Amino acid sequence: MAMGNAHRHFLGNLLKNKKIEMINTLVEKIDRSNIDLDVIRAAGKVLREGGLVAFPTETVYGLGGDGLNPESSRKIYEAKGRPSDNPLIIHVADFESIKKIAASIPDTAKKLADAFWPGPMTMILPKSEIVPMETTGGLNTIAIRMPKDDIALELIRCGGGYVAAPSANASGRPSPTKASHVYEDLNERIDMILDGGEVGIGVESTIIDLSEETPVILRPGYITKEMFESVIGHVIYDPGLTSVDASVKPKAPGMKYRHYAPKADLSVVEGDKSRVMLKMKDLIADNLTKGIKTGIICNDEDKISFDNADYVIGIGAQGDEEMAARHLYDALREFDSTDVDVIYSIGFGESGLAVAIMNRLLKAAGQKVITV
Ligand code: TXA
Ligand code: MG
Repeated sequence: MAMGNAHRHFLGNLLKNKKIEMINTLVEKIDRSNIDLDVIRAAGKVLREGGLVAFPTETVYGLGGDGLNPESSRKIYEAKGRPSDNPLIIHVADFESIKKIAASIPDTAKKLADAFWPGPMTMILPKSEIVPMETTGGLNTIAIRMPKDDIALELIRCGGGYVAAPSANASGRPSPTKASHVYEDLNERIDMILDGGEVGIGVESTIIDLSEETPVILRPGYITKEMFESVIGHVIYDPGLTSVDASVKPKAPGMKYRHYAPKADLSVVEGDKSRVMLKMKDLIADNLTKGIKTGIICNDEDKISFDNADYVIGIGAQGDEEMAARHLYDALREFDSTDVDVIYSIGFGESGLAVAIMNRLLKAAGQKVITV
């Protein structure tokens, strides 16, 4: 596999600042219909000995280390080039396990786990003594998730039961939805990659904070506000998620960082569909006269309307949000292998899964919106 420019750039910067040990990264392909337990046991051993293993989950690939070993957490930050104040999620394989890492477990946690675990939901609870501050980025709370993926669950069991895993991308890049994305970003920086094929959901888990009176959504995802409310009643979004006031910071430290940004300058074009189409066509025509190369993210059926753009990616049929979520990060990465200067993307709605797609897209765009 070729090393992408962004990766080379990232690596260059990191090597300038710090000496990073290059290690041999073993890639193991796993057949989901017949999981080779010997391979998973070997991966589990790597984790128990303090090494790093990337693995598939239903949302995105994770970069796993032993969540109770501070040295492993340090290694994770270093491999990703991630600021160490940005805490990790501990992945468990059963509900019982959370009793060891959470200082208290409210009823709401049990209800949500019954409804949505294993699945794309991360709960924030007060942490117990046993969890090192390295894993929680110095916070007194801990993020916990039970993923719905047989490879992940088996790895957690073989790896000691508490696998700390952020998304397995280099910090700032789109989260990996395929093993090849992980390889692009982390080859020679981690011990092993378990390749379980393309993930199903494509955006990271919904994070819900249960450490305070009212449950708060810190990061939107596949489990929506409406779904939470059907189980535990009123929940709110973290005001820091959408605030334009820079003094209102998101509560999840990771949400404050610029993320997912492609090299080209990305903007989201929002408004009535026919006006959005017209505006995009105008922008392409205008850019053509200036020699600016344009990329477009649109619905599959509209690709044909943008045949004068330099690169067009269909993200799914109109209204198919599951498909859009699954393809978003791959699309953002794909643009990095083209020579487009600017990218315009269609926007998404304000309810259900669209909230998560729009949240990631606006982050990638540095919140740049063209309203028509
Ligand atoms: O779907 C997912 O959640 C994936 C897969 C691998 O499970 N993981 C993931 O991890 O997205 P990561 O590290 O990329 O994102 C974790 C987010 C960050 O924004 C972090 O700041 C937040 O969770 N977080 C972790 N612990 C927290 C805590 N105690 N309080 C508030 N936010 C926390
Ligand atoms: Mg991440």
